[in-house]
Formats: sequence, C-alpha cells, structure tokens
Amino acid sequence: MGRRRSLNFCPASDVLNLTRSISFLPDPIQSSMSQSALKRIVFTGGSGKAGRYAIPYLLQQGHSILNLDLTPFPEDHLPPGKSVYTMRTDLSDSGQTFNALSSLFNMSEFSLPKHPGSPDAVIHFAACARNMIVPDNETFRLNTMSTYNVVEAASKLGVKKIIIASSETVYGACFSQGRDEDISYHSFPLEEDTYDVDPMDTYACSKLCGERIARTFARRFNNDIYVLRIGNVIEPHEYARDFPKHVGQPATRKRNAWSYVDARDLGQICDLAVKKDGLGFQVFNATNDTITTSVPTKKFLEENEPKTVVTREMGEWEAPLSNRKIREVLGFREEHDWRKYYKP
Ligand SMILES: NC(=O)c1ccc[n+]([C@@H]2O[C@H](COP(=O)([O-])OP(=O)(O)OC[C@H]3O[C@@H](n4cnc5c(N)ncnc54)[C@H](O)[C@@H]3O)[C@@H](O)[C@H]2O)c1
Repeated sequence: MGRRRSLNFCPASDVLNLTRSISFLPDPIQSSMSQSALKRIVFTGGSGKAGRYAIPYLLQQGHSILNLDLTPFPEDHLPPGKSVYTMRTDLSDSGQTFNALSSLFNMSEFSLPKHPGSPDAVIHFAACARNMIVPDNETFRLNTMSTYNVVEAASKLGVKKIIIASSETVYGACFSQGRDEDISYHSFPLEEDTYDVDPMDTYACSKLCGERIARTFARRFNNDIYVLRIGNVIEPHEYARDFPKHVGQPATRKRNAWSYVDARDLGQICDLAVKKDGLGFQVFNATNDTITTSVPTKKFLEENEPKTVVTREMGEWEAPLSNRKIREVLGFREEHDWRKYYKP
C-alpha cells in the first residue's frame, strides 16, 4: 500500500471521479472539478503584490486555489464569478505550515465525501520581499524558515510540484554597495545555469538559501521543484507612473538589469510551471522578453557597461536578465510588453 493511501489521502484524479458521480455538491465545486485542467494549488503569500495577479490568472485557467497568508486576499482583484479562500497562516511556524498544506480549500469542501488529500502543487510566494522592512536577521529568519517549512511539508505530504519565488537580487547587483566592480554584473546575459550568483545583502542571501533548500528536497524526494528568479514585478498602473523614469533615466535601472516582469505574465509563468512535469529541480528567470531601454541591447550595453563581458549573441532587444529558458523550456509567450503601456 502506498504512503498516500496509508494516510487516507486520495489523489486529485480520484476526487474528480468521486465528484462526477455526486449530485449534491454545490455548483461551484461540481463545475470546477469537472474540468480536466483542474489542479488543486496551495498558493502562499497570494495577498501580496505578485500573488494578487498570479492567483486570478490561475483561477481563470480553471485551477482551484487555497491562499495561505497573514492578510486577506483583495476581493477587487478577483475575476467575475471566481473566489479564493485565505487561511491565515504564519509559515514561519512549521506546525501551522504542515497543517495548512493538508487543509480543505474552503468551507464548501466539507460537502466532499472525504478529505481530498494533498494539493497537486504548491506555489510559495510568501516572504519579506525586500531588505529594510524588518531588521536583517528577521528578514533572514522569516524567509529561510518559511521556505524550509513549506518545501519540507509539501515534500513530506507527497506534493509532486513545488514552485518557489526567488529573486533577481541573487545575481548580486540589486542590493549591493561599494566599488564599481561590486555594483556591476560579471557578464551578460544573466542566465540561470551558468552565472555565479554572489549577493552581498541579507534578502538576496535568504533567497539563495531558499534555492538550496529546494534543491536539497528535490534530490531527497525526487519531486519537481522549480525556482522562479523573479524580476522587478510591475503592476498595470505602474507603467504610466514609473516607466518615464525607468526608460528616460536608465542608470536608475541597473539594479534590476534593465528588466522586469509584468505581474499578469508572472501568472502565466506560474501556470506553465504547474503544467510542465518531470524536470526535477530547475531554476528559471521569470522576466519579460525585452530590455527597458529605448536603444537595442547590444548598443546599450556597449555604451553603458563597456567593461562587462557579453558571453553570447543576444537578441536585438533581449532583456539582460534573460528569459530564454522559460520561453524555450516552459513555452512562455509574453502578453504584456511594456511598450504596449508606455511610448517613450
Ligand atoms: N515584488 C518584486 O518586485 C519581487 C521581485 C523579485 C522577487 N520577488 C519575490 O516574489 C514573492 C512575492 O513578492 P511580492 O512583491 O508579492 O511581496 P509582498 O510583500 O507584496 O507579498 C508577500 C506576502 O507574503 C505574506 N507573508 C509574509 N510573511 C508571511 C508569513 N510568515 N506567513 C504567511 N504569509 C506571509 C504577506 O502578508 C504578503 O501578503 C516574494 O517571495 C518576493 O521575495 C518579488
């Protein structure tokens, strides 16, 4: 008898079969569970800047979501007819994390004939999302412990797909200070599998520790754990407000490698990562396609970063924090190029 069975859990496919034959379930459960794209996804930190766009995207693909956060999900971000339940959970506490990851997704699920078991996927975004919100030691404790707790609990509960939020900051320039060589990149493009990531700040260090935690558990449990090195997240209203400066004064964007990710496109990346199985441990830059400058990449880097080596031919407008891997491996196709929202 398999471990999941012995814990009286049943996989999502069993839930589908069960619910198809049960007529007394409330309509929302009945209809959502009859869709083949259905995944049960626990999303942590979904009430924050990125999650409030990623969760609506995932809901629109037909997934059901449980949000684990300290604060409620902003209702005005929900697509029409969709809902998400937020369970107030402190993920820096292992007991709460284990418990919440094996929870029902909403009150309606008490109508199910039995507990549906572990989620199909866990997406872990909860964090102290930069330095200086709390003292450094607390940033480190919260981020490393919550990532450890989520990855450990999900792995031990048999979750086969875990996606965690890392950060552009691990490339080392974002929160660095000091000499020119300290605040510059070693080479372009910044790519997941070749660049020697070496941050000097606490937040980025905590994110790098999270990546190693993920790699450790993927090796031990043989599950898929995909790390997203997320670029600077841009919400729809931020193009008009911020891009005049981002594009007009490119020196201000060196810390972000003149790259970004649209919050809605980040939702697409999460969905693609949920759907792509069998890759084991992977790191993906999660960014949009193009550089945030009005001159093409090669010319811009030659003129502004002449001492930094370029290791391969880059696309004409390719972002220095390159998303080539998510395009080629996950099939990402951006929908929200910044030029749709701001004309320099
Ligand atoms: N915003 C960016 O530009 C950016 C860039 C790179 C990486 N990231 C990463 O992406 C993820 C999401 O970022 P964001 O901008 O949405 O952050 P955010 O601060 O807006 O949201 C984080 C959410 O996590 C929750 N949270 C924090 N600690 C928690 C805990 N102990 N238990 C439960 N919930 C907790 C918060 O309540 C909040 O809703 C983070 O991991 C962040 O480090 C963000």
